[in-house]
Amino acid sequence: MSKKKKISAEVISQSSLAEGIMDLRLKTDLAEDAGPGQFIGIYPSNRSTLLPRPISICGYDKTEKTLRIVYRIAGSGTAEFALYRPGDCVDILGILGNGFPVDKASGKKVLIIGGGIGVPPLLGLAKELKENGCAAEISMVMGYRNSETFLSDEFEKYGKLYIATEDGSVGTKGNVIDACRENKIEADVIFSCGPMPMLRGVAAYAKEISAKAYISLEERMACGVGACLGCICKTKNVDDHSHVNNARICTDGPVFDADELEL
Ligand code: FES
Repeated sequence: MSKKKKISAEVISQSSLAEGIMDLRLKTDLAEDAGPGQFIGIYPSNRSTLLPRPISICGYDKTEKTLRIVYRIAGSGTAEFALYRPGDCVDILGILGNGFPVDKASGKKVLIIGGGIGVPPLLGLAKELKENGCAAEISMVMGYRNSETFLSDEFEKYGKLYIATEDGSVGTKGNVIDACRENKIEADVIFSCGPMPMLRGVAAYAKEISAKAYISLEERMACGVGACLGCICKTKNVDDHSHVNNARICTDGPVFDADELEL
């Protein structure tokens, strides 16, 4: 399980990467505990809610003690976060969730597939895999709506990148699975994050090419801390403790072995 504490972090910088997509960097000791696929809770300062907003970690620097958070403005909480400027302090809770099992990449052909706001947490994963050198090969497929292919220039540093866009302005016209097929991408292990329909497609593609898939369902989280039960997903096996086929994405995930889920 991940360690978890509430702490005040200092905003180092914030900029816009694309329409409604923000890139926030925070100085915090929590960076020392971060791993790819994990997330933090950010507390809105207006106190309209006691619960934090879960937002995935895009990158971390354990030496500099910084976290990078790339998020979409999608409500009053994230609209408030977008106003933060360097020097501001923000309360955060972390490090939360179970991230990607990077050890499964050892000696394997790895394919990283992301879509929409599921793209950012995969950048930290790609960097980690490139730096630890354990994967035999790294391919990546990122899906976007249009030519605003945020973070794609950074993904290119870590392996072969393919892009799919809904409007066909960059790369394959269509979705990430269309791009996988068009480029006949093979893999032993797939790591993925994005909307549910995309993840179902990823799980099916993994079966087709006989790969193992580990998918992050973080898009379905609400409170992120086990309090709202809004993130229940169906599992194939019965939980030993609760005797039901349920898991909580925020505490049991957000990353799961796709074979263990009813998608
Ligand atoms: Fe609220 Fe999981 S997101 S319980």
